[in-house]
Amino acid sequence: MTGFSSRVEAVSISGIREVFEAAGEDAINLGLGQPDFPTPDHAREAAIEAIQSGAVDAYTSNKGTRELREAIAAKHDRDNDLDVDPADIIATSGGSEALHIVLEAHVDAGQEVVFPDPGFVSYDALTHLAGGTPNPVGLREDLTMAPEAVEDAITDDTAAFVVNSPANPTGAVQSPEDMREFARIAEEHDVLCISDEVYEHQVFEGEHRSPAEFDESGNVVVVNACSKAYSMTGWRLGWVTGATDRVERMLRVHQYAQACASAPAQYAAEAALTGPQDPVSEMREAFQERRDILLSGFDEMGLACPTPKGAFYAMPKVPEGWVDEVIDRGVVVVPGDAFGENGAGYARISYATDTETLREAIDIMADATAALN
Ligand SMILES: Cc1ncc(COP(=O)(O)O)c(C=O)c1O
Repeated sequence: MTGFSSRVEAVSISGIREVFEAAGEDAINLGLGQPDFPTPDHAREAAIEAIQSGAVDAYTSNKGTRELREAIAAKHDRDNDLDVDPADIIATSGGSEALHIVLEAHVDAGQEVVFPDPGFVSYDALTHLAGGTPNPVGLREDLTMAPEAVEDAITDDTAAFVVNSPANPTGAVQSPEDMREFARIAEEHDVLCISDEVYEHQVFEGEHRSPAEFDESGNVVVVNACSKAYSMTGWRLGWVTGATDRVERMLRVHQYAQACASAPAQYAAEAALTGPQDPVSEMREAFQERRDILLSGFDEMGLACPTPKGAFYAMPKVPEGWVDEVIDRGVVVVPGDAFGENGAGYARISYATDTETLREAIDIMADATAALN
């Protein structure tokens, strides 16, 4: 058998999968990175109608249907006060593909990509796949990423840095001042700022702002998706938007790797983005209630946890052996070092689960913590 590319040999299957495989069948899973709500009915129905009418039997435009891109542009106007031209949007197979085409189009072999550590696992892997060199940066005590840390990490070889707010795995939300700084750094150092905003609607304290609002250089691209906002992870529909030249380059990758995002998902996403937004606020309220339950649980068991202000994850500091003890007792959590070296000594807990199950899991985590003391 022939060998494999050094790019693919540099990545491995996410550590999160390994944890799931290690867990028993009836374990409570607090490892999942997806909302536990149904996709809104109006989104499902739009896809069904599009399928029945035959509208989805053919490729769409490579960038996605005009109607979907207009809906995405209207969303940026409504939620981010951003004027986005529908021509400068590519609908992708989830936020994942959007991140992939951004990096493929902007990172040369040997160039560096700066991203948060702990941070979402794809940043490191997709940098390797693009032939680049990961340059992870540690976080502040509150688990936000300091603009100064990014600026210090930038070298002549840096192609891009990633901002993710609200963040996976930390739940941290960057301040508007930080976002303004990220836009400034992108301009002053002439590097690309990739803003991953897939959790933008899950903010409980503070507010979501995009570095794109402060961008005057065209050096910011925004990645977003319907996945977490509308509980549509299985539909695989995200997008990327940025300056026209950047979109044209990213389209070259998207065109050959994907042709177009799945057509039924495009119709569902258009309906989700243009229809009633109550499911978004209902989910946010539910996540906030669960976050509070979880935080008081950590408090009672004596685990310090920086207050997550968004997303649906918490990252408490945990004693040695805690993750294994908790998994052995039937609750799946993810060790912090699955998200980077600086995640060691933490665990990521997803609270995308109903309150009753969450309370049960808290009791088990409390017993595990006591057993280790
Ligand atoms: C920070 C972050 N960005 C992007 C993604 C990718 O999302 P999608 O399911 O839309 O590909 C995820 C998924 O977990 C994520 O946590």
